[in-house]
Amino acid sequence: MTTPPDRARVTKAVIPAAGLGTRFLPATKASPKEMLPVVDKPAIQYVVEEAVRAGLSDVLMVTGRNKRPLEDHFDRNVELETALEAKGDTARLAAVQHATDLATVHYVRQGDALGLGHAVLAAAQHVGDEPFAVLLGDDLIDDRDHLLEQMLDVQAREGGSVIALMEVPPESVSLYGCAAVEGSGDVVRITGLVEKPPVDQAPSNLAIIGRYVLSPAVFDVLRTIPRGRGGEYQLTDALQELIATEPVHGVVFRGRRYDTGDRLDYLKAVVQLAADREDLGPPLTAWLREWLGTRP
Ligand code: G1P
Repeated sequence: MTTPPDRARVTKAVIPAAGLGTRFLPATKASPKEMLPVVDKPAIQYVVEEAVRAGLSDVLMVTGRNKRPLEDHFDRNVELETALEAKGDTARLAAVQHATDLATVHYVRQGDALGLGHAVLAAAQHVGDEPFAVLLGDDLIDDRDHLLEQMLDVQAREGGSVIALMEVPPESVSLYGCAAVEGSGDVVRITGLVEKPPVDQAPSNLAIIGRYVLSPAVFDVLRTIPRGRGGEYQLTDALQELIATEPVHGVVFRGRRYDTGDRLDYLKAVVQLAADREDLGPPLTAWLREWLGTRP
């Protein structure tokens, strides 16, 4: 007996990385926002590490113009490795090689940046007829939490698609895709989805955060949906259509998430992650306390 496609084991992660990063200009004029350092690693490396931790070592990045540094980061840099070796700097050599050995990273270019739905559709050929994960680079999940693993378990049990949700304050709902759900607890059935609704039209305060485990049926829907909010092809709109034919579950995440999508949240993420580090945390926290005491 063959396994139906929506029950096949998930092995592939898709990471859309074709955005223009306009919120960080001019930093992102010539280099991708995914390469902005969060402490001492580019943001995108956290996301690839998360996928690998969940067992997904086949990573497809959907990129666009200006994304060459991404490819270089996950490729070997022989000159640098030789220099570090000659200096006997084994710790940094290991850090450099870690990024290379982490995963098998593939790339596909999106051409025009026509929205998240359009980016995910660019992955169709690589993914084929299997469920797959989508990880958005603006959301970082703490490595002590296991959101993606939990989503993969739900997908294996229920089939269909699984979306990560998080409770947000009502005034923030319009920044996210928003879900109508049935049930309570950590795993819910999603009955409706709407992309960035005005607060008075939001079906709940459960926001989509950037983790999805999707059935390959989403590709057929993405091929037919019209442009949605902002004139873009929205993944949320495709998933809303999918609800009519397949189960779509939500995993309500209550762990630690860091948003690197805008400047203030990015700064908070850097401070929070640095404060948790053994090497940087104690001196940073001590300095922050002292410095804040000197502020009016
Ligand atoms: C995208 C999705 C949105 C989701 C968000 C999570 O929006 O379209 O549904 O809530 O990611 O980060 P974006 O932030 O790319 O505008």
